[in-house]
Amino acid sequence: MTAKIIDGKAIAKKLRAEYHARVDVLRSRYNVTPALVVILVGDNPASQSYVRGKIAGCKEVGIRSELVELPASTTEEQLLEHIERLNNDATVHGILVQLPLPAHIRVSSVLEKISVEKDVDGFHLYNMGGLVTGNTVFSPCTPYGVQKILEHENIRVEGQNVVVVGASNIVGKPTALMLMQQDATVVICHKKTRDLGHFTLLADILVVAAGVPNLIVPQIVKTGAVVIDVGFNRLPDGRIVGDVDFEGVKEKASYITPVPGGVGQMTVTMLLHNTILSAERAATATTSPFRRRA
Ligand code: GUN
Repeated sequence: MTAKIIDGKAIAKKLRAEYHARVDVLRSRYNVTPALVVILVGDNPASQSYVRGKIAGCKEVGIRSELVELPASTTEEQLLEHIERLNNDATVHGILVQLPLPAHIRVSSVLEKISVEKDVDGFHLYNMGGLVTGNTVFSPCTPYGVQKILEHENIRVEGQNVVVVGASNIVGKPTALMLMQQDATVVICHKKTRDLGHFTLLADILVVAAGVPNLIVPQIVKTGAVVIDVGFNRLPDGRIVGDVDFEGVKEKASYITPVPGGVGQMTVTMLLHNTILSAERAATATTSPFRRRA
């Protein structure tokens, strides 16, 4: 069997055209331009590159974006003050603090400072908790992108065996919860899992987000499985590869995402979606979309 190679770039392009149309409606009907503020602390080159992609994505669909670059010496208190100011700025619909942060800043206090209504990354505890109960205000972008890919390809999730390899807060855990919400039978594997293949061979849908090149070889993939590779690894020779042995596994799977050109394109696209959704809510809602804590 040779897999269908899922073109994440084409799916993202189609969705971005739809999102551009929604931005046009917001502008013409409500005189509102969706706005995203990205905060980057320090000068991590990978983060700088991701942030550039986010800002470019905003431009493509008509979202106003602002990049706040802060030195690595920024204190937690100073960062929280920036967030407070943006929380109170009605012209800002999305706030994203690029991770990782310098070690002296507590990630949890930063993520919880961001107003839930502007948490377009979906990383606030309220949104994380919403994944358990199935009522997030915003879904986290990479898992949401995986879900959109499956939807776009008409791949049924209900009743399927899904194995997620990787248990990060950003990808593995939320992806597992989102697919469980759609009535998949979900297993999460991680770096302490014994005999990975024992589990992955059960997967009708295999989602891999481990950050380990070539972790998934054909011998541990079920024939006909749908393989979604969220890995993004830079090899010493500069090549970008995922976590899946693409050439080998594509001969065994029914669908497979390439790296680059698969899930990566969708992460930024879902961030654009969430920012537009936030602006739509702000423009049209008379009440908050979530129940405020006292
Ligand atoms: N660092 C790596 N991925 C992400 C992401 O999706 N959002 C943020 N804020 N930081 C990241």
